[in-house]
Amino acid sequence: MTKPHIGLIGLGTMGAMLALNIAEKGFAIAVWNRTTTVTRSFYAEAGALAAQIVPTESLAGLVAAIERPRSIILMVPAGPAVDEQIAALRPLLDADDLIIDAGNANFHDTNRRAAQAAPHGPRFLGIGVSGGEEGARHGPSIMGGGEKADWDRVAPILGAISAKYQGEDCATWMGPGGAGHFVKAVHNGIEYADMQMIAEIYGVMRDGLGMPAAEIGAVFETWNKGALQSYLMEISAAVAKATDGAHPMLDVILDKAGQKGTGRWTVIEAQTLSAPIPVIEAAVMARNVSAQLEARRKGEALFGAAPQPLPKGALSLATLEQAMIAGKILCYAQGFALIVAAGQEFGWDLPLPAIARVWRAGCIIRSSMLEDMARALEEDPARGLMLAPFFADQLRHTCVGLRHAVSLGAAHGLPLPALAAGLSWFDLMRTGRGTANMIQAQRDFFGAHGFERVDMQGSGRHGPWGGYM
Ligand code: 6PG
Repeated sequence: MTKPHIGLIGLGTMGAMLALNIAEKGFAIAVWNRTTTVTRSFYAEAGALAAQIVPTESLAGLVAAIERPRSIILMVPAGPAVDEQIAALRPLLDADDLIIDAGNANFHDTNRRAAQAAPHGPRFLGIGVSGGEEGARHGPSIMGGGEKADWDRVAPILGAISAKYQGEDCATWMGPGGAGHFVKAVHNGIEYADMQMIAEIYGVMRDGLGMPAAEIGAVFETWNKGALQSYLMEISAAVAKATDGAHPMLDVILDKAGQKGTGRWTVIEAQTLSAPIPVIEAAVMARNVSAQLEARRKGEALFGAAPQPLPKGALSLATLEQAMIAGKILCYAQGFALIVAAGQEFGWDLPLPAIARVWRAGCIIRSSMLEDMARALEEDPARGLMLAPFFADQLRHTCVGLRHAVSLGAAHGLPLPALAAGLSWFDLMRTGRGTANMIQAQRDFFGAHGFERVDMQGSGRHGPWGGYM
């Protein structure tokens, strides 16, 4: 085995899988974990791939095992652990060595780390790696951020280990500093929204239509052969059909969602950038409400259960499928608009078509619709998905289903926060004369904030409010 040019720190699930993937693609790799027994077990269980792996039992040993200029992947928990690991490595590395944070870092942290690295090194990349354990082992989607020259140094390895879509690597450099981790955060926000919309449709089927889990799974399986083909639709069909031998798994899993917080970061950034992402915001809200189990049970006891059965024949599965398609298009339109807003704010030239392409395989939101999105964005990145002819045409007829589902859901207490948020946003985006004139009048009444008039040029006008109290 040649001396490794790359090393990896952190042999937790994702790190171990990534190391095996790298070794399997023919790259020698040195590995180290803070707990030596973890390193030893990883090496012992690596099988034939051990021939490409150099296990080390100290940080200095790891560094010594790697050929200069060294590249070292960090797979440690996002946050202070990354800074601690960088600080421990810095005295052991040369200025042109490269540290690659492949965790779910907040992009602001990555911006800071990249800026700290710039003057004296070691070099620094922040890459978003999506696809969970399976993706890390057999092909993740990789969204890179940092100096292009540093990305180019490791691009052959990252491309080799990445997922492939029609032979194309799903690994792309997004831009400087935290650009890669920002795009990963948007991926995770969209992930939350996709998962929430599927959960809402599941709720309509379960509580509105009285469908058992296995039947719902069969419907999702059918939908996964059409416009809604996606990894999340595929696994939703699987989890709906799964049983523990006595019960459908969905019937016994507590409806209290966890979250490591990546979707929340997306919402915070969108608000900071004034980039509306109501479908993702509703998904994060719904996760937070799901965690308020006791409050929800008290609400049900006091007001009665919200969900009510739908009248027979009131809502077809085809209508629900249309609602999901519309909700997905609207959500992704918002997600890509957020990426545009970030690019403008941070001076990043984020490659929208390449982002859609890198999401087509390996990542959690991978789906066939992303191929259509990549094509639409390629035609005109600045236009936005909603106005792209292909998606505008889809929205014209699928939004009928979305409106019907949301209306019926509201009338029968079936909570559809994400789908309803998508519909309201769509309607707002089709209202040339909205109602913010009322807000401007209110603001000027209590705060003399001024407003523009439709019949005159200029701003800073005030109303004759004095005589109206
Ligand atoms: C991915 C996933 C992953 C994320 C898990 C858990 O792209 O592989 O997004 O990065 O950590 O999905 O996320 P939550 O705990 O926030 O649901």
